[in-house]
Amino acid sequence: MSLDISRIPTPCYVLEEERLRANLGLMDRVQRESGGRIILALKGYAMWSTFPIIREVLQGCTASSMNEARLAAEEFGKEVHVYAPAYSERDFPQILELAHHITFNSFGQWRRFGPRAVDAGISCAIRVNPLVNEVEVDMYNPCGPTSRLGVTPQQFEPDALQGIEGLHFHALCECGAESLERTLEAFEKHFGQWIPQMKWINFGGGHLMTRKDYDVELLIRLVQEFRERHGVEVYLEPGGAVGWQTGPLVASVLDIVHNDVDIAILDTSAAAHMPDVLEMPYRPAVRGAGEPGSTPHTYRLGGNTCLAGDVIGDYAFPQPLKIGDRVVFEDMIHYTFVKNTTFNGVDLPSLAIWTADDELQVVRRFGYEDFKSRLS
Ligand SMILES: Cc1ncc(COP(=O)(O)O)c(C=O)c1O
Repeated sequence: MSLDISRIPTPCYVLEEERLRANLGLMDRVQRESGGRIILALKGYAMWSTFPIIREVLQGCTASSMNEARLAAEEFGKEVHVYAPAYSERDFPQILELAHHITFNSFGQWRRFGPRAVDAGISCAIRVNPLVNEVEVDMYNPCGPTSRLGVTPQQFEPDALQGIEGLHFHALCECGAESLERTLEAFEKHFGQWIPQMKWINFGGGHLMTRKDYDVELLIRLVQEFRERHGVEVYLEPGGAVGWQTGPLVASVLDIVHNDVDIAILDTSAAAHMPDVLEMPYRPAVRGAGEPGSTPHTYRLGGNTCLAGDVIGDYAFPQPLKIGDRVVFEDMIHYTFVKNTTFNGVDLPSLAIWTADDELQVVRRFGYEDFKSRLS
């Protein structure tokens, strides 16, 4: 049996265990055949109730903050890597207690915090900007003009490298292995002369290796050849690829109104529950629905906040929608609940796992206390 939508309380994100295991199976193969090490980027996927499954395959996590580092240490174990655009005096002492690897975004940060990290036995790296242009949407392009993320070749300080054991770049977002190939060329051109003094190179995230058309063989070859060419350990830190197509967000129709077009108001929200739909922007797939006009009943799907633009898009359904119908947004596990807000006080969707044994486990429900505890 596959996921039984009628059993899901709405709104709810449903992680399908078998799909997660399939993604991990591919990552296991990439690690075995390439010799690279894959860690989970918590910013994209942090459903910690599933960490016991992910831990069987991945080597640890990469955290972007003290809070994520603590979650990694408490709930995942294994290696804890940390990178943030800047560390603060308030958080750094706790990061020192949690991290095994720390990447600094500038030589200024390295000078300020590095000595304490080295004294604590932590392996340190500098993030560099290889000046590639593989990501079209500016919002998601870490190497765009005037980017604050990573040291450019012009700003690089070879004289300050003593104690640095790694270089880190993150230049991709939902990219193919061909983008990594071009990025590696640029990285080696700009920073290659310093690789011999390094123990590890982190290729960042954005490798959408679990997408159907991704060239996994090329990824394996690139990682393996890079390791052999330079004699270093290679890390990949995907977030999106771990949660890629591992489950939907299930919502219900609360009302249907008409203003030139038919509009269905749902018990979910683009603004609060699927922010990339507005930010990226992109059109999520809706199960059983198609492009407007492709079947007789087209509706604008709207969220339950007062934001005029809280609209997911126009979708055609074969039958008219009625109050109480389920609407299933596909592929809503990565970069959704990690970014959710309680804007308008709308309830956060529950988190559930549909297990490999076809059992529904609702692992978290949210309510008034979650809304209130973020305010005062
Ligand atoms: C430094 C860094 N590493 C890893 C990732 C994960 O990227 P993705 O989820 O696209 O694989 C990100 C995403 O923004 C990032 O900024």
